Amino acid sequence: MQQQKISMRGITKVFATDEMETHALRGIDLDIFAGDFVSICGPSGCGKSTLLSLLGLLDMPTAGSYQIEGQEVSGLSLSEAAFIRNEKIGFIFQSFNLIDELTVFDNIALPLRYRRQSMAKAEINDRVMACLKTVDMSHRAGHRPNQLSGGQQQRIAIARALVGNPALLLVDEPTGNLDSKNGDAVMDMLSELNSNGTTLCMVTHDPRYADMASRKLHLLDGRILDADGTPVRQEAALRQAAGQ
Ligand SMILES: Nc1ncnc2c1ncn2[C@@H]1O[C@H](COP(=O)(O)OP(=O)(O)O)[C@@H](O)[C@H]1O
Ligand SMILES: [Mg+2]
Repeated sequence: MQQQKISMRGITKVFATDEMETHALRGIDLDIFAGDFVSICGPSGCGKSTLLSLLGLLDMPTAGSYQIEGQEVSGLSLSEAAFIRNEKIGFIFQSFNLIDELTVFDNIALPLRYRRQSMAKAEINDRVMACLKTVDMSHRAGHRPNQLSGGQQQRIAIARALVGNPALLLVDEPTGNLDSKNGDAVMDMLSELNSNGTTLCMVTHDPRYADMASRKLHLLDGRILDADGTPVRQEAALRQAAGQ
């Protein structure tokens, strides 16, 4: 049986201010299994970034259950969540988010140096160099990010996301700041990582890239739609009501 990485049930997220409440997510059920490549599309404001930040434990849901590799994480404190995030989740953002004051090597090593259990220098070195090799950037270990092209910087960001051997790689518009040639190269790299077993969940506006995923999800108004455009939970409720 395929190993279950992620299970969300009835996840909601409400942003409340004095004046108004925004229901960003309205009951998300989502399972992600080992080796999946899930893409998430939908119009601006439908909840994509909110869903990704909940998946990545950057924020907590208002209600619902969220399990990572069988561990319930929805009620964790933010500091506890940070440790789980460091160990289980890799992030790739549109804006690379590398630190220009650090070398490429040190940027990639950073997540390992924040581990709850400290890691030996030799192991950090081995892991960083292996990831640099994966993204074909071994020759740039001593450079600073601002000495590299956008496409090269995104490859370093991919290496940093991989170095902790995460259960899940979360990817937010990975090609948004790249021209189409570099964007295609980054997508080819992500696709190859998935072929080699990395579990991916990616938000993208680009239908060509969404099509590279093994499962395509569409979000609308904080709900996941099925292939016909019907909110999945609502459809299940209708079927139940009709006695089917
Ligand atoms: N921190 C926040 N405070 C209040 N409202 C928010 C916050 N973050 C997102 N929202 C609202 O939640 C909804 C979903 O936002 P978001 O997840 O960013 O959508 P998307 O990424 O699909 O464009 C939007 O209506 C947005 O205005
Ligand atoms: Mg967004």
